[in-house]
Amino acid sequence: MLHAPRYEELETPEAGGGQLLAEVLAAGLHPRVRSGAGGTHYTGDGRLPMVPGVDGVGRLPDGRRVYFVAGDDGPGTMAERAVLDPRRAVELPEAADAVAVAAAMNPATSSWVALRRRVDFEPGQSVLVLGATGDAGRLAVEVARHLGASEIVAVGRDPRRLELITGLGATRVVSTADADKLTADVDVVLDYTWGAPAELAMRALVTHRTERSKPLAWVQMGSPAGADVTLPSALLRAANLRIMGSGQGSLTTAGIVAELPALLDELAAGTFGTAAKAIPLAEVEDTWTAPSDPGERIVFTP
Ligand SMILES: NC(=O)c1ccc[n+]([C@@H]2O[C@H](COP(=O)([O-])OP(=O)(O)OC[C@H]3O[C@@H](n4cnc5c(N)ncnc54)[C@H](OP(=O)(O)O)[C@@H]3O)[C@@H](O)[C@H]2O)c1
Repeated sequence: MLHAPRYEELETPEAGGGQLLAEVLAAGLHPRVRSGAGGTHYTGDGRLPMVPGVDGVGRLPDGRRVYFVAGDDGPGTMAERAVLDPRRAVELPEAADAVAVAAAMNPATSSWVALRRRVDFEPGQSVLVLGATGDAGRLAVEVARHLGASEIVAVGRDPRRLELITGLGATRVVSTADADKLTADVDVVLDYTWGAPAELAMRALVTHRTERSKPLAWVQMGSPAGADVTLPSALLRAANLRIMGSGQGSLTTAGIVAELPALLDELAAGTFGTAAKAIPLAEVEDTWTAPSDPGERIVFTP
């Protein structure tokens, strides 16, 4: 049986080999943090005990505030102190709020990096976001608009949250229940669901494509709707479908980090963001299992 992380005293981690010891100011409770702590993330090695947290905002010994991504095998960021590799850290713009940055960077980075690094996306192309009602999906709509997408189709389950997305740049919203009827002629799909919605949407989009040889880049981002899909081979022959993923491993850490300053600037400028709820780290155990408001990212503040 899985247990929530406990708040307890640990030795302060030692910074070695070019690392720095930072005072953690804020660390977001992202799905990636939950899957890492639960032992279900594909990068995990199952070692316990572990300190959860994959990123955060910290203060360096010289006083500078940075957003940083935790190392692959050191302790995580949900602690008073964390070691960081300066190559995985980016200084915060003065105007940036630590909690807002800790909430939004992980979900926003997904689409930002996918559109800028994983596919040859150009302004004027069209994007479909599958699973657009989560934080990452909603931000994907905003990021696609910001990067110049001409048409943005948002597909999601929750009708109330789907409606809100219309005002954020989506040119069309479609219920996930109608994924099998999708006819959009898009260039890029950012897929935050996988599972049945992806199976239905892929078949529909390929079948209704007017120019079958035009590339359709399908970028897999997350799989809350199922770890697997059944992929009929005919779909790969019937259209210029290019299926890839975007995440740790398919991109280098250096490539991801290189994108962070520009994204941080947009977050600090208020171009987009996500609602954040700051909670003292001491309340981690109760907060972990308590129901949370969709659209409000929990951020622990030590
Ligand atoms: N690859 C990357 O770089 C990257 C980065 C960040 C996040 N992600 C992944 O992207 C996914 C979403 O992250 P997030 O931060 O947006 O989380 P979130 O805010 O908690 O949103 C979760 C999303 O998943 C949807 N969902 C959950 N179960 C579903 C199901 N059975 N069928 C269809 N949709 C379902 C939710 O739809 P409703 O709104 O209808 O409940 C919501 O849109 C996660 O898997 C996360 O790990 C990937």
